[in-house]
Amino acid sequence: MSYAAITGWGKCMPPAILSNADLATFLDTTDDWIVSRTGMRERRISHVPATDMAAVASARALACAGLAAGDLQLIVYGSCSYDEQVPNSASGVQVILGAHNAGAMDVNTACTSFLYGLSSATALIRTGVVKNALVIGVELISPYMDWDNRNVSVLFGDGAAAVVLQASDEKLGVLAEHLGCYADARQTLRVRGMGCAYANRGVRYGDTRWDFDGQEIFKKAVKGMCQASDIALQKAGLTPTDIDLLVPHQANLRIIESVAKYAKIPMEKAVLTVERYGNMSAATVPVALVEALEEGRVKPGATLLTPGFGGGLTLCSHVIRWGSRVTPLGASSVDLPPLTTTALELVNGYRAERARRSESEAGLQAPVFAEAAARPPASAA
Ligand code: ACO
Repeated sequence: MSYAAITGWGKCMPPAILSNADLATFLDTTDDWIVSRTGMRERRISHVPATDMAAVASARALACAGLAAGDLQLIVYGSCSYDEQVPNSASGVQVILGAHNAGAMDVNTACTSFLYGLSSATALIRTGVVKNALVIGVELISPYMDWDNRNVSVLFGDGAAAVVLQASDEKLGVLAEHLGCYADARQTLRVRGMGCAYANRGVRYGDTRWDFDGQEIFKKAVKGMCQASDIALQKAGLTPTDIDLLVPHQANLRIIESVAKYAKIPMEKAVLTVERYGNMSAATVPVALVEALEEGRVKPGATLLTPGFGGGLTLCSHVIRWGSRVTPLGASSVDLPPLTTTALELVNGYRAERARRSESEAGLQAPVFAEAAARPPASAA
């Protein structure tokens, strides 16, 4: 059985930067609070649809791998913020890339979507179904963020990254992983307002209410990422000292510090982007991986650990072995269209639209949201 080596990588970060000071212009919050509780100083706000970010990251990853779009056999689009539900988003990326011979599927496990996608694509390569695959982690959270809820709106940002996997006889790529889910706690992180439970019942798509038990998620995230890492390392026959680089999900600096401590991996080995990008959900791990490569932190033959955690509450960790090449074979000239507005203007646009709607539709949505909140976990959509 062959392995699935990572041979290409690319990211696409939208240029508009939203600082903590920007957030403090409309929220009762401070730079001090956000930095001390989360480690975040700024995040990006996209001025384009998610598939456009994903396509730019993907074109860069294909160029890096030296793989023509027409030779691509599978696109896996990891995200929980699709531009549209039908058609799926992977097919949208396929059209932009011109990857006419590829299968195309979306994977949604919230923040772990890229990592679950990596497992899926690796398995399909290892079993000979396809010879190569593009795995994308992308998130466009800003349009459906409840911006006036300070408990959540300071935490998230937009971004995208992608990797190319290719069949290899060498023992490379994902060597072992563990996938899990604390479904009993699925209600601790929930975005009401998106999904068929709300369709045609007076709630506008994306007009969201976030249920978010930060402290409970924090504890479960640390436990889940550590347990998954232990199991993945055992399956790979490795110990924490074998890990050269920790590339964790970036939900909170304190979560990463706790995971590193319990997993017995020094923080110097951790790749951190949380300060500059916040939590980009499915995009955090691939963006951190691409930045580690750009900074020369991934050495030939390196062993990486990528613990992740997301809504569901899904959890996972992957042990990844890098090949001999740590530099791109080529570069792509594609880029996003120029930015004509600031991040704060984009966010204030979303806020104004929400305020306008809640004024004109006051009372209409409340019963639907209340009913959804009261729904027991087992039957909740
Ligand atoms: N600015 C100022 N004050 C705030 C803000 C804010 N943005 N948000 C909350 N507060 C207040 C609260 O109202 C509370 O005030 P009170 O004591 O008067 O009631 C106080 O700050 C303390 O709030 P806590 O919830 O105790 O703060 P905590 O130290 O737990 O940090 C945080 C909150 C950052 C959300 C943390 O719990 C966390 O990171 N949890 C996990 C987050 C996470 O995983 N997010 C990603 C979810 S998706 C995924 O990636 C898994």
